[in-house]
Amino acid sequence: MATNVEKDTVSGQYTTGHEWDGIKELNTPLPKWWVWVFLSTIVWAIGYWIVYPSWPTMHGYWAGTFGWHARSQLVQDLEKANAAKQVYLSKIKNASLEDIVKDPDLLNFALAGGASVFKDTCAACHGVGGVGGYGFPALASDHWLWGGTLDEIKTTITYGVRNANPNSHQSVMPAFGGGDALNDAQLSDLAEYVLSLSHSSQDAAAATRGKAIFTNNNCYACHGAAGEGNTAVGAPALASGLWLYKGKDQKAEIISQVKHPKMGAMPAWSERFNDTTIKELAVYVHSLGGGK
Ligand code: HEC
Ligand code: HEC
Repeated sequence: MATNVEKDTVSGQYTTGHEWDGIKELNTPLPKWWVWVFLSTIVWAIGYWIVYPSWPTMHGYWAGTFGWHARSQLVQDLEKANAAKQVYLSKIKNASLEDIVKDPDLLNFALAGGASVFKDTCAACHGVGGVGGYGFPALASDHWLWGGTLDEIKTTITYGVRNANPNSHQSVMPAFGGGDALNDAQLSDLAEYVLSLSHSSQDAAAATRGKAIFTNNNCYACHGAAGEGNTAVGAPALASGLWLYKGKDQKAEIISQVKHPKMGAMPAWSERFNDTTIKELAVYVHSLGGGK
């Protein structure tokens, strides 16, 4: 202790003995508890360094005596999650579509799985949530080209449409018109009739003339006498008012389809996904709003 330590009269505390220009420094040591807490954090830090990965070394880093690793922790967590998933996946694998839909737990799991694959793979063509687009059918509607029951949806997803898979849906809409088959006036009347099926024709006389053309050319064989469609051949319901090939000028779209039919194609998804995933997709698509 410095020799010129003295008691300060104002605070009653001792000074350190240091003095600058008549200003004396009070001796105010840190509280004991504070010092102990401080020291114990140092001890804690040293312990932490030893048991956990911490210090860089010449050949990598100090791995810690516990052998803990952020990645192995993650791997463990994933394994746990996977094990839980496997239980559901194997249930889905062995259950019928109807059973999956009846079991709320299984249904939720299947919908989540189906939704995520749909987003990655199907939404590019069918739109987010299956709203559809030009030439890509809306899956959220209750009009179906190839059928809207769980099993029909699953079959369509499994084998696809107009592709090389031996079980793929196949059908051809023949081209009418061109050559001497149907002239422009007849095509126009026919299109008016097709529009009238969904009450969107403005020309009743033309629609009436078109009806005969519709009948004489066997359009009804695929599209149905009242335009109700036919899922056996993937023929759209012309009376639905919902167009696969929707355009600003719907009459022109219809005429174009009759003269030069477009025919949509979709891959067989069983060539890419296993049966469990396809079941999840079928359940998801069925849930979008139009499932039968
Ligand atoms: C490359 C574009 C494309 C992709 C990707 C695609 N589809 Fe399709 N899908 C189509 C087309 C085109 C049709 C209509 C075929 C036709 O005209 O008959 C169709 C038809 C369907 C149908 C039948 C609809 C009906 O009205 O009967 C279902 C169900 C379906 N797709 C589900 C899926 C699912 C599930 C996926 C994802 C695994 C998927 N699609 C991915 C193009 C696609
Ligand atoms: C052999 C069966 C068959 C016959 C006959 C047929 N169609 Fe089609 N039609 C189809 C199929 C299948 C499609 C769907 C094409 C696709 O999926 O891309 C279609 C699509 C259409 C579309 C497009 C509908 C939409 O939603 O955009 C129109 C319009 C149409 N047909 C009108 C006719 C008319 C009019 C006739 C008679 C002159 C006719 N079709 C005869 C099978 C047929």
